[in-house]
Amino acid sequence: MTLREMTIDDLEQVTAIEKKIFSDPWSKEGFLSFLIKDYAMFLVVEEKGAVLGYCGMLIMQEEGDITNIAVHPGRRKEGIGRFMLEGLLRIAGDYGVNTIHLEVRQGNLPAKRLYDRCGFIQDGLRRNYYSDPTENAVLMTWVRPAPAAANGEGTGTNDVISEP
Ligand SMILES: CC(C)(COP(=O)(O)OP(=O)(O)OC[C@H]1O[C@@H](n2cnc3c(N)ncnc32)[C@H](O)[C@@H]1OP(=O)(O)O)[C@@H](O)C(=O)NCCC(=O)NCCS
Repeated sequence: MTLREMTIDDLEQVTAIEKKIFSDPWSKEGFLSFLIKDYAMFLVVEEKGAVLGYCGMLIMQEEGDITNIAVHPGRRKEGIGRFMLEGLLRIAGDYGVNTIHLEVRQGNLPAKRLYDRCGFIQDGLRRNYYSDPTENAVLMTWVRPAPAAANGEGTGTNDVISEP
């Protein structure tokens, strides 16, 4: 299993997963419009040519905003989400990104658990932010641990990432 940059060739599989999961799925064109931008970082987890998951982030100076994260419905709860998100946090460092924001449906417990496990902290709420169905958005933020903390106790998200 490898984590790598998303390419145009992945979009067939990525949008097939997207359609299975979301009520307002991103189209191929939607992904494509970001793949060509240098302020966007889109990654996939791949195994033997199959896309198991994907995530995306927009970058503004030292801050990132996660736009997408999903794991194939048949491959959940295997640690793929965490493998992918921890990889994104590590690679974000190469872009000089030290603070990352996201929003998540209040009732999306698997995603909230994943973010919590990766060190995101809840820091806001937007009422009725989502539609279809209407739901509050929980705002969460991750801040890169100081180097001493990351190297010390070994509990930070900057630890060496191993496969799940
Ligand atoms: C959220 C999502 C990406 C998680 O991917 P995943 O590969 O199943 O996650 P992992 O296996 O790495 O699990 C990460 C943590 O979440 C927990 N978790 C995952 N699914 C869970 C579930 N259904 N219920 C409770 N906890 C869950 C895991 O137990 C793990 O926590 P732990 O380390 O304490 O055991 C996946 O459920 C998904 O694609 N959901 C649909 C898309 C979505 O909602 N994206 C988020 C939009 S904001």
